Amino acid sequence: MKNVKESYTDFHVSHNPKHVYPSEWLIRTLLGNYPNLSLDKNKYNKARILDAGFGDGRNWPLLRNAGFNIHGLEITEKIVALGLERADALGIPVILRLGTNSAIPFENDYFDYVIASSSCYYVDKGETFSDNLKEYSRVLKPEGVLIATLPAPGGSILDGCLDLGDGHVEIRNDPWGLRNGYVFRQFKSEEDVATTFSPYFDSFSVGHCCDNFYGVQINLFLLVCRKKPAAFPADEKQ
Ligand SMILES: C[S@@+](CC[C@H](N)C(=O)[O-])C[C@H]1O[C@@H](n2cnc3c(N)ncnc32)[C@H](O)[C@@H]1O
Repeated sequence: MKNVKESYTDFHVSHNPKHVYPSEWLIRTLLGNYPNLSLDKNKYNKARILDAGFGDGRNWPLLRNAGFNIHGLEITEKIVALGLERADALGIPVILRLGTNSAIPFENDYFDYVIASSSCYYVDKGETFSDNLKEYSRVLKPEGVLIATLPAPGGSILDGCLDLGDGHVEIRNDPWGLRNGYVFRQFKSEEDVATTFSPYFDSFSVGHCCDNFYGVQINLFLLVCRKKPAAFPADEKQ
């Protein structure tokens, strides 16, 4: 069986679209106005943002139009190279690096925003989701904003998954066959989201999307939160 790096590299090589379109949840989150969503739209211009696990870079035109200074990471050199080609073709300046959720190749307190669009819950071998959270917190400035989607109950991706304890599961029946054998952190409820993120983050706005696309159920929690001012004490900084 291929590992997730090989699977995703093959996927991004074969699925290399000329045009990309942003995800609806991110358009709604960045530009929409919802009573329980706390996100100041006046702070985007020139703010430094990390697109963690940027995939095909579909969200860059949106981020660029909103004024962000775009950075990104992906898990293989080939996906990074494809991203650089696409950014060039789109005329969007980006800084892209090789990295993972638990090893983000940027310095401490660097970003005003991090987005993780269906990416922060991928947990590498020998790691836990807590390692990912610690790393996301490390690269955000104090009170920097994390914007993420997370797997919610009932989604097809979790069908028949193996429970590894502490919210971690091994994927067994990925509808696209890409991530079988990979470890995800799943979330049971909005309370589970807030409890899990609260060692490093506060000011939680949590949404919930449930869609069925031709038989594939996609259930997500949407999360906007802020890095706690003292989330990453100076003596722990790497
Ligand atoms: C479902 S895709 C989402 C891509 C893009 N963010 C989007 O919204 O379309 C997940 C992406 O996460 C990347 N990924 C997989 N494991 C990762 C890890 N451990 N750290 C960071 N990114 C990872 C994959 O290469 C893939 O491009």
